[in-house]
Amino acid sequence: MTAPLVAAHPLSGDGRFIMERYRDLLPVTDATPLVTLGEGGTPLIRSRVLEGELGLEGLYFKAEFQNPTGSFKDRGMVVAVAKAAEAGAEAVICASTGNTSASAAAYAVRHGLDAVVVVPAGNIAMGKLAQAVAHGATIVAIDGSFDDALRVVRDLSERHPVALVNSVNPHRIAGQKTAAFEIADELDRAPDLLCIPVGNAGNITAYWHGFSEYYQMERIASRPRMWGFQAAGAAPLVSGERVAEPETIATAIRIGNPASWDGAIEARDGSGGSITAVTDDEITHAYRRMASDEGIFCEPASAASVAGLMHRHAAGEDLSGLTAVCIITGAGLKDPDIALQIEAKRLEAPADPDAVERVLGW
Ligand code: F0G
Repeated sequence: MTAPLVAAHPLSGDGRFIMERYRDLLPVTDATPLVTLGEGGTPLIRSRVLEGELGLEGLYFKAEFQNPTGSFKDRGMVVAVAKAAEAGAEAVICASTGNTSASAAAYAVRHGLDAVVVVPAGNIAMGKLAQAVAHGATIVAIDGSFDDALRVVRDLSERHPVALVNSVNPHRIAGQKTAAFEIADELDRAPDLLCIPVGNAGNITAYWHGFSEYYQMERIASRPRMWGFQAAGAAPLVSGERVAEPETIATAIRIGNPASWDGAIEARDGSGGSITAVTDDEITHAYRRMASDEGIFCEPASAASVAGLMHRHAAGEDLSGLTAVCIITGAGLKDPDIALQIEAKRLEAPADPDAVERVLGW
């Protein structure tokens, strides 16, 4: 007998897919459609240069940009859209700075649902917009911020039979907490520090839930200190006050009134952690170092986690003996405009080996 060309069960295999691997810890029922694009199972990549430079015992990057649509959003979206389909929804709606909309659009297609995404006009990275366009989502660009967009979709989801798939939807948080499970499973313990960019604050909330759940189940003996980082121009959780007109190069976290405000504070205080601001210059510096020293091309918002760790070290924090994990939330290719601002080692030459040799100075 010849082996079938297609696996009999798309979720069999290495247990990579979060809805299968962590099924018992997720709101999955027999009626939940286990549709997957291959989310989760992202590697923890050990630092090559920064670990030693910052004096850490261990520094790892959780490569969330390796999720199907290039960001961590897929972990929450695979659960939220499945639950929406299970409940009979025909469409999903979300506000987004780009990644949520890309992910919602992809999973909506996968489930045969329509997607409507509401984004701040002119403030979403090109790659992310391209994803929503390609997946056929209806895009509404509003003259306002992400916070305005979230207000709009919350209202519309109450007026119409559409499922809201922003992280105010608890299924999003449930899916995203699986990244904490993966870190603990792979390290066989919790790290001492968890460094994470904070925008709408769903992800820091989700990680804290994940580590806390594992702690209660005695799968880990301790929980990490949660170090959240916001961009200085969009740092309401640092100042304690909403920011009416948030501004930062890291458009993904250009948010002035995070929906999961309380969750972020709980993660910070419950873990003995902190939420600190990093400047756009610090973000840009870390973004470049990640690409040029670590071989990791992330988007600017993701580099905020690394920028924050570098900031704390520069401020005199002793990191010796500690193990830190930085969450690298999204892919660099999503925001090519920012990448191209880096001075390239770019030469020009005629199509001839001797000429190329000459310009190389060989
Ligand atoms: N990093 C990236 C790449 C993001 O896209 C986001 C949020 C964050 C970090 C912050 O995560 O909001 O859970 O605190 N992006 C949302 C979006 C807002 O619409 O794509 P958070």
